[in-house]
Amino acid sequence: MYLRKTILATGVALSALATASFAHAEPTAEVLHWWTSGGEAKAVAALKEDFQAKGGKWVDSPVAGGAGDAAMTVLRSRVLSGDAPAAVQLKGPAIQEWAEEGALADLNDVAAAENWDDVIPAAIQDVMKYEGDYVAVPVNIHRVDWIWANPTLLAKVGADTVPTTWDEFNALADKLQAAGITPVAHGGQPWQDATIFETVVLGLGGPEFYQEALVDLDDDALNSDTMKAVFDQMRKIRGYVDADFPGRDWNLATAMVMNGDAAMQIMGDWAKGEFLAAGKVPGKDFLCAPTPSENGYLFNTDSFAMFNVSGDDKIAGQKLLAELIVGEKFQETFNLLKGSIPARLGVPMDKFDDCAKKSEADLKSAQDAGGFLPSMAHGMALRGHLSGAIVDVVTAHFNSDMTSDEAVSRLVEAVELAKD
Ligand code: BGC
Repeated sequence: MYLRKTILATGVALSALATASFAHAEPTAEVLHWWTSGGEAKAVAALKEDFQAKGGKWVDSPVAGGAGDAAMTVLRSRVLSGDAPAAVQLKGPAIQEWAEEGALADLNDVAAAENWDDVIPAAIQDVMKYEGDYVAVPVNIHRVDWIWANPTLLAKVGADTVPTTWDEFNALADKLQAAGITPVAHGGQPWQDATIFETVVLGLGGPEFYQEALVDLDDDALNSDTMKAVFDQMRKIRGYVDADFPGRDWNLATAMVMNGDAAMQIMGDWAKGEFLAAGKVPGKDFLCAPTPSENGYLFNTDSFAMFNVSGDDKIAGQKLLAELIVGEKFQETFNLLKGSIPARLGVPMDKFDDCAKKSEADLKSAQDAGGFLPSMAHGMALRGHLSGAIVDVVTAHFNSDMTSDEAVSRLVEAVELAKD
């Protein structure tokens, strides 16, 4: 009798314990991301701190490599081996691709509780949802089409502003080169070549051409004189970089501008995160201006997708992380460090600098003028096999003496093959 009572009592106690531990499962999230440069690391640390302050356990899985190419390779092998990380930095059509595979968890209950439909812009909601269900959360809006410049070096050749046309850009670069200054800081990695390429497509072709060529993959646009002129301009820019550019990481190229080793870098505003992390002041130590275009704006929204995992602690971790990311406080803190602007509507911009304020103002005017366009180089416009086909040609051209005619015909061919 005594024994039976003890067993029963122990059973009750154990099940009470189990219930308690379920209710208080420590929210845990393994977070796979590629934010490893100075500015990026500061920004992601802010997310980690918020998460920990709310009782979360953060398991950091950084995979170095700009634009996330290496991170995406690691992700594929992790999912294939049945060991998906809980939260993954993922964006654009790749979110849809993973959702189609059935790999993503839906976040609809957090979305409803937090009113995401009211605070996330409609265009960004479309990217975050799969068949009407939220499967990812947006962190920011990065603008890709920027020039970052060193005002002291520009002043050496009598310039006090960043060029506003590509002809002016070339004229300034020629002057800088004649004065012994490297005009363009660049890292020879395919995604960095593609980053420059898409800004030139936008600038020389205009927003409509960009949409036709790099979003709709229209044959006539790809096979056009305009596209030939784009490759001609890429050849010019190739002449403005220093000899050591192959393989250089983007943040080292940013450091060249910062340290006076090169005058300008064409890069998204994560570069501003590097300047800020180094204590540099916009408008004084460095200049920011959009690459020449008519009311264009190439956007790149970082986001996190939650992969299917099991375990109450992990599921609680995913929900907590998703809630924090879309929250107003996080959107402000993170984006002040990252160089981007909030993806959430209504976050006050008063603490942001002039580059961010310009980004926000230009975003609105680009939207009105039809120039708000997804970045091809940063995985916002096309699925990976299609953007990969374009980037390969861009890089092959940049790193050889291929003519523009040949680049155009290779581009048309590569896109055709990839479409099949
Ligand atoms: C990401 C940024 C990141 C940059 C360099 C971009 O594709 O959107 O968040 O800072 O790559 O790694």
